[in-house]
Amino acid sequence: MIQLDWNNQVFTLHTRASTYQMKVGDYGVLLHTYYGPRLRGGDLSYLLQYADRGFSPNPAEAGHNRVFSLDTLPQEYAASGAGDYRLPAIQAELADGSQIVDLRFAGAEARRGKYALPGLPAFFAGEAEADTLSVRLEDAASGLRVELLYGVLEEYDLITRAVRVVNGGSAPLRLGQAASLCLDFLPAKLDLITFDGRHAMERCPARAPLRPGVQGAGSVRGMSSHQHNPFVALCEPGADEDRGLCYGALLLYSGSFQAEAERDQFDNSRLVMGIHPRSFCWTLEPGEEFTAPEAALVCSPDGLGAMSRRYHRAIRDHLLRDPWKGERKPVLLNSWEAAYFNFNAGTLAELARSAAELGVELFVMDDGWFGSRDNDRQGLGDWWVNEEKLPGGLERLTAQVQALGMKFGIWVEPEMVSEDSALYRAHSDWALAAPNRAPARGRSQLVLDISRREVREHILSALRPVLSCPGLSYVKWDMNRGLTDVWSAALSPQRQGEVCHRYVLGLYELLERVRQEFPHLLIEGCAGGGGRFDAGMLYYTPQIWCSDNTDAIDRLRIQYGTSFCYPVCAMGAHVSAVPNEQTGRSVSLETRGVVAMSGTFGYEMDVGRCGPEEREEIRRQIRLFQKYYDLIQTGDYYRLTSPFEEGPFTGWQQVSADRRRALVSLVTGPARANAPFAAVRPKGLDPDAMYRVNGGEAVYPGDALMRAGYPLPPQMGDYRAFQLYLEAE
Ligand code: GLA
Repeated sequence: MIQLDWNNQVFTLHTRASTYQMKVGDYGVLLHTYYGPRLRGGDLSYLLQYADRGFSPNPAEAGHNRVFSLDTLPQEYAASGAGDYRLPAIQAELADGSQIVDLRFAGAEARRGKYALPGLPAFFAGEAEADTLSVRLEDAASGLRVELLYGVLEEYDLITRAVRVVNGGSAPLRLGQAASLCLDFLPAKLDLITFDGRHAMERCPARAPLRPGVQGAGSVRGMSSHQHNPFVALCEPGADEDRGLCYGALLLYSGSFQAEAERDQFDNSRLVMGIHPRSFCWTLEPGEEFTAPEAALVCSPDGLGAMSRRYHRAIRDHLLRDPWKGERKPVLLNSWEAAYFNFNAGTLAELARSAAELGVELFVMDDGWFGSRDNDRQGLGDWWVNEEKLPGGLERLTAQVQALGMKFGIWVEPEMVSEDSALYRAHSDWALAAPNRAPARGRSQLVLDISRREVREHILSALRPVLSCPGLSYVKWDMNRGLTDVWSAALSPQRQGEVCHRYVLGLYELLERVRQEFPHLLIEGCAGGGGRFDAGMLYYTPQIWCSDNTDAIDRLRIQYGTSFCYPVCAMGAHVSAVPNEQTGRSVSLETRGVVAMSGTFGYEMDVGRCGPEEREEIRRQIRLFQKYYDLIQTGDYYRLTSPFEEGPFTGWQQVSADRRRALVSLVTGPARANAPFAAVRPKGLDPDAMYRVNGGEAVYPGDALMRAGYPLPPQMGDYRAFQLYLEAE
């Protein structure tokens, strides 16, 4: 709900559990007055205090009123160079060379429905499901205009934001920053949580109190990155899974981003999030506009778990455009860790046969099927079937796989080129590289300049015959290096700062066109595992390979961190062989199955080499996953314990919306002799209901299970897994 109180110039957004407010203050400055647990409304500007603070300047219009300073008051969208020395949301170099932007209120309106952002990913909602507030600001001296957009998905406790910047002046200007989100807090102790890591160990939460000054996370790699994620949270120091005030900030963007928080001299805090200014400079001619990507806020008065569940629901219902909506996703087998580059039609057919026998429903041929691709130094860009490996082409293989009762899918990496490829020999100038400078290689490959239209057109026309293969159901869209040597032949020297963002826009256009031309294809995103696991990609690829690390014990951490924002149905997770390729660790097939099952679920191993017991176990896992599919994929997700903390087990849980069914999954730690007894305390049950555990005789009260727990039998051996299925009587 949006309330516009024109008498007091106060604009208030309400969701079910939160309230957000801004007010046009003195001199037309748009002040931020509140974001927090839901309130009745009213004018909350009584919270703001005014004082003459040394070295905090006053706007010209204030005359000698020394208590009004942009440097001390909470701003809705902080400008730069005009008296607020804190983190800016917008920076620009004007025609006269000055870098001053000073924004004043110029109008606001509310309407039903949610705004859309052409060419960019965004949460979608019907007319009756959301409201939009548009607030206009203006820098009178330059004519620069800013439109702040707010989408309110009341039932989901989600407030989305986006920003349009228009050059309303008569001379060109250079935009150096246009953040998607600026959020000020009055003095309060806050912790910042970022999700950090590296290739094969992504999105590990790091939590620390905000200290004076600037801290944050970001990427300048041209991809959202393995190292940091465009999702951060702020919370009260005491907040935990079940209690305390928490804020989530999610950026729907897949390129270089920055999320920075600043605690200022008076303990106010500011969070700014958007495209990373270090690789961004955008020229706006008079009349032109720039749209900053969307950000989405959740305020959770009831802990981090509830914050995550709000994001999961909103992402599932209003961001994922799942081409197979309503259909159960097939359990897949991917050929990568089963065969790497060593396959031909015969070995693939054999692998497919073994997979089909076990109940696998989708067979995915990973890297190595095209051009001269026998290793990772060659062939990228040549998207035609290697008929020596696969006589009869994709058609024959697809037909074979379909005859086994499975769907068929393939791997592609369209944004890249190998120097040893026909594409590079014909168009070496299509790779990102600056004049007279040999570009850096990553995984022995170069990046195609998909900011250029002709490169995108070529990629589409090369992919089209492949994607048109009758019976093809699934595509894994990979991206295996970050951007370097960012220079595009299509742009003037003055506009080279636009390349990184134009690359991302080019990527979104490519994906959108593939989706439109091949609406039945399920696209799984991937970037060396989880290097581009972000909400921008999820708009186009409703699931993403979570990590190249398939070790079940490391995956506990990766999937735990990922779950703070992203839902289970988006997390690509497979069972692989032991000893694990990435860690050398061996854990039981059962444990590997339980961990992968809280994701999109599949196998990535040569199942033909499994013995009879293992084959039976795989059949059992697939049946179990199918049985609990809805509960696992769309149930409310609870983190029970953290894999980063010492304890008897790592636990998590899915609960059905009516709280009558729940699946608790547990993986124990390293074995300890003569260990204390352990119990698990499920969450989110109906306290008044009686639950049967794993179909046993006894029933247990929901309140007792949640408050006192359910005892676990002592375990022998490391990393044992259990699942408890609870069903209300
Ligand atoms: C990346 C992906 C893997 C696999 C390989 C193929 O590393 O993350 O899953 O597809 O590429 O080269």
